[in-house]
Amino acid sequence: MGSTTPDKRNLIIVSNRLPLSVKRVDGEYKSSLSSGGLVTSLSGLTKSTEFRWFGWPGIEVKDAKDRELVARSLAEYNAVPIFLDADLAHEHYNSFSSISPLYFCDSILWPNLHYQSGVVFDDHPWQAYKRVNECFADAIANAATNGCLIWVHDYHLMLLPRLLRERLLEQGKECAIGFSLHTPFPAGDFWRTLPVRKDLIEGILSSDLIGFHTDEYKQNFIDTCANLLGARIEIPGKIQYKDRLICADKFIVGIDPMKFKDALQKREVQDRIRELEERYRGVKVIIGVDRLDYIKGLTQKLKAFDMFLDDHPELHNRVVLIQVAVPSREDVKEYKELETELSTIAGKINGKHATPNGTPLLYMHRSVPFDELTALYSVADVCLLTSTRDGMNLVSFEYVACQDKRNGILVLSEFAGAASFMKEGSITFHPANTTELSEAIYKATTMSDEERKKKHNTLRDFINLNTSAKWGENFIEKLTQRCR
Ligand code: UDP
Ligand code: G6P
Repeated sequence: MGSTTPDKRNLIIVSNRLPLSVKRVDGEYKSSLSSGGLVTSLSGLTKSTEFRWFGWPGIEVKDAKDRELVARSLAEYNAVPIFLDADLAHEHYNSFSSISPLYFCDSILWPNLHYQSGVVFDDHPWQAYKRVNECFADAIANAATNGCLIWVHDYHLMLLPRLLRERLLEQGKECAIGFSLHTPFPAGDFWRTLPVRKDLIEGILSSDLIGFHTDEYKQNFIDTCANLLGARIEIPGKIQYKDRLICADKFIVGIDPMKFKDALQKREVQDRIRELEERYRGVKVIIGVDRLDYIKGLTQKLKAFDMFLDDHPELHNRVVLIQVAVPSREDVKEYKELETELSTIAGKINGKHATPNGTPLLYMHRSVPFDELTALYSVADVCLLTSTRDGMNLVSFEYVACQDKRNGILVLSEFAGAASFMKEGSITFHPANTTELSEAIYKATTMSDEERKKKHNTLRDFINLNTSAKWGENFIEKLTQRCR
């Protein structure tokens, strides 16, 4: 742990999603592990750093006694719920709302941040976004003590740093505020299309330190501040706006590789690995693990796999793609439509290429328990990730962490943030180029052992060096320095 790491009363982490999502089942509150890279990276930090984690529990709880119950169950994980009215939470985020079919975070912001065109703006969800950010600001300002560090995460809470700073000032508290974005930040022309582009940027600029996953995202943000707000950029990595100097930097987010290595030692995981190895003897296994999201390029992945099978009849029954598509944002129209489309394509691929000896594609639309995930990563010869845009993509790190024995090959879209660091040790491609992608699959499944080992070693060193703990400690260290 870094010497400047504060104790848990002094570090507050805020994200829309908590590590546990609460659901009501048969009259009882049940919590389950949340999905996604943000939760993975912050959970990986818990071993070395203590903090309280504030966020929305994923459910409306009206009754005061029930709120107490939920809060108590989350407290075990140092998580603190911020309760929101159902309609407000839904319009802000992504579930069904009686008022508007658009959700600010997932119908407007998420697609814009990932370069999707044709995003329709609506004032109603924008008002909900503002109100949710205000609720968070009230809760955090009240919980904060003078001198504490507050680290805000992701696109759901871009207005929070400004709202928080105002409230802290009113209460006479002085706290350092950091903000980390877990998505890409797009080039200026894209960001400009949002009518509320200035409010969002000004919201973030009330932070003392702003973190991005790559230099490209950082530079896009800095350019936008200069062009849109006239901020001055005279010192590299520093933004002078109004009377404040704000620091923007790249912090390489990672995973906790030991968590995977420990899981691989477990007897039940070893047994499962043996079982899978037996099942796929003589077959090259390609694994894909993605939330079911259009940014993951799943349509492109399946189409390229179809082409690969067309072009290589000699590899029929000798290659299998196991695709885990984790259910995500299922109330949003685009996500529902994508699920239908993927099931159809998956059915067609198996209809065309299956033989009595087997099917080339296993498409699983569900989440998988952690032990099963590590076993799947471990037996796969190739990991195929085809994002059209992706903040970082931590699945790529997790696959490498489970590959010390097999030296598996990572086939990674050049549009995943991870590709800016992992290009040398992987095979990269343009996800919209089906031929290039199909050829990348062929190259990965036929690569020599020597080349596989060389590539794997490069990636192994990278993920072991850039862990989630190091990411968090670096950010906190720099934030602490800023407030000194
Ligand atoms: N994951 C999960 N449930 C599953 C399978 C995977 O939560 O059933 C995890 C996976 O292990 C990884 C995270 O979801 O840690 C996905 O993170 P990534 O950065 O790759 O993408 P994101 O979902 O954040 O866009
Ligand atoms: C991405 C976002 C996270 C989000 C995760 C899962 O990683 O950057 O903020 O938590 O996806 O999405 P969800 O909508 O389930 O929170």
